[in-house]
Amino acid sequence: MSVADLSFRQSTASADAVGAHLWACDAAFVPKLSEGLDIDAYAEKIVRHAITFEAWQEGLLVGLVAAYINDVERRISYVTNVTVEPVLMGKDVAAILFESCLASAREKDFDAMELEVAQDNHRAIRFYEKFGFQVQGRRNAKLQMALNLKPQPQPPEPLTGGTR
Ligand SMILES: CC(C)(COP(=O)(O)OP(=O)(O)OC[C@H]1O[C@@H](n2cnc3c(N)ncnc32)[C@H](O)[C@@H]1OP(=O)(O)O)[C@@H](O)C(=O)NCCC(=O)NCCS
Repeated sequence: MSVADLSFRQSTASADAVGAHLWACDAAFVPKLSEGLDIDAYAEKIVRHAITFEAWQEGLLVGLVAAYINDVERRISYVTNVTVEPVLMGKDVAAILFESCLASAREKDFDAMELEVAQDNHRAIRFYEKFGFQVQGRRNAKLQMALNLKPQPQPPEPLTGGTR
């Protein structure tokens, strides 16, 4: 399976499709997703409240980024899920979905994006770091990470060297 075989959509998945996808990815989470929550209830919550950025292969949801981009007072968005089926890891599918999520929060003029990740989920942490996310805190074996969506302009580099 490659990126060319997929179609990318936004907020079309049913709770059943989200649930089936999360169950298919369950063992890839560190620790397993089903150890910490009720996957089917979580899928319902995602479809009801989050924007979903979806990769489909024919009728199957194979990649999903879900984010709450609705707190218009704090202007902080929150990524609740990032998954691709194991055969799609390392193939840019997760990155394409995550870029769409970031673009959506920026379009809505949000200031920041936050997420939480298990401290042992090194692959996911590395993935988020590639987008510029930084660790803000730690709680119960989880890291809180955040990205400023409106970076301040950097002052110009001081001039060095030159000949006189
Ligand atoms: C997290 C996830 C969406 C990332 O997608 P992906 O396609 O695997 O991500 P990428 O391959 O683009 O990036 C992963 C990075 O981690 C690196 N990596 C892989 N295994 C690693 C490990 N054990 N330790 C540290 N880094 C690791 C990869 O080399 C890559 O970095 P690089 O591009 O600098 O080489 C995907 O792995 C996934 O679905 N995991 C299961 C569900 C999950 O844990 N979701 C996150 C919950 S917070």
